[in-house]
Amino acid sequence: MAQEVRGVIAPGKNEPVRIETIVVPDPGPGEAVVRVQACGVCHTDLHYKQGGISDDFPFLLGHEAAGVVESVGDGVTDVAPGDFVILNWRAVCGQCRACLRGRPWYCFNTHNAKQKMTLTDGTELSPALGIGAFAEKTLVAAGQCTKVDPAASPAVAGLLGCGVMAGIGAAINTGNVGRGDSVAVIGCGGVGGAAVAGSRLAGAARIIAVDIDDRKLATAKALGATHTVNSRETDAVEKIRELTGGFGADVVIEAVGRPETYQQAFYARDLAGTVVLVGVPTPEMKLELPLLDVFGRGGALKSSWYGDCLPSRDFPMLIDLYLQGRLDLEAFVTETIQLDEVEKAFERMHEGDVLRSVVVF
Ligand SMILES: NC(=O)c1ccc[n+]([C@@H]2O[C@H](COP(=O)([O-])OP(=O)(O)OC[C@H]3O[C@@H](n4cnc5c(N)ncnc54)[C@H](O)[C@@H]3O)[C@@H](O)[C@H]2O)c1
Ligand SMILES: [Zn+2]
Ligand SMILES: [Zn+2]
Repeated sequence: MAQEVRGVIAPGKNEPVRIETIVVPDPGPGEAVVRVQACGVCHTDLHYKQGGISDDFPFLLGHEAAGVVESVGDGVTDVAPGDFVILNWRAVCGQCRACLRGRPWYCFNTHNAKQKMTLTDGTELSPALGIGAFAEKTLVAAGQCTKVDPAASPAVAGLLGCGVMAGIGAAINTGNVGRGDSVAVIGCGGVGGAAVAGSRLAGAARIIAVDIDDRKLATAKALGATHTVNSRETDAVEKIRELTGGFGADVVIEAVGRPETYQQAFYARDLAGTVVLVGVPTPEMKLELPLLDVFGRGGALKSSWYGDCLPSRDFPMLIDLYLQGRLDLEAFVTETIQLDEVEKAFERMHEGDVLRSVVVF
């Protein structure tokens, strides 16, 4: 029997979000229904609402979530009702060219639920990143459920489902930050803050946080930044070079998604260093760089989708480190809110007031 639950939809481009009754089908083969316990508000949800990702309105928003598996469809063996899970948007297929080459974190054919959730009038919903978790329950592919230690609170665990994993992974997976490295992180919101925390976890010796907002620099410091730079007041490239013996950082992580901050990242790295772009640009943005500098500075210019994470490997490991007190995930939860406060949370995000607002059910 399909169930009716409350969920937050984005009805149309730039229209305010609203709560609607969502019809959640019973799980079919390979699917699971999850009772959502917490779901963070990510910048990408705002991109969806603004029409910046696609025109497939109405969207069922929310994708940074943790909860308990309620029921599973035929053929599901990895998770069972009662399991505490983080939802992921990288349920790897095992069969695409990336998976077959042993690089499943690049999987090009990730799984989502085949059935559609709908409004009561039958209108099909597009769940954000194939998840749609600003809802009391959601239907996903079973592979989107990653079991973790239930000792972690849902509000904290859910954050690994997107932004915090993207930031930590940008540092430890894509940037390959290692012991003794110097790292600069440009843009220290939820994602950049997590890149700072990931760099500390990986043993970086010097972690330089750059932002235009002093509040973000203060949280970056708490998360492990050894130096902070307000780039509204100080030239970020010069300051990063000065703090690294005049050379630039080994790894520079761009967590804003703009051409000018990418250029700063490009010139703030040491020769043969690595730039990691984890911020998401918009379609009209263009980048101009002297090709000779691209060649002459050597090293690697990389992009990081979802922190190149493999949920089955990274989520349980990071939850364990959190439970051991080695990774402060609680620092990312600025406030917990109710389902009807998502629109307000977007405003607070826009004002820069929060790292993460998390809806708890
Ligand atoms: N690659 C991925 O898989 C992935 C996953 C999740 C989010 N993202 C993207 O990462 C980016 C950051 O997300 P977030 O949730 O941390 O957003 P956020 O709004 O919380 O943080 C952005 C930060 O950048 C700072 N900033 C803005 N302009 C700046 C500038 N010119 N110089 C320095 N700092 C500046 C802001 O003050 C803020 O602290 C977004 O583009 C988001 O879409 C990427
Ligand atoms: Zn694959
Ligand atoms: Zn996200």
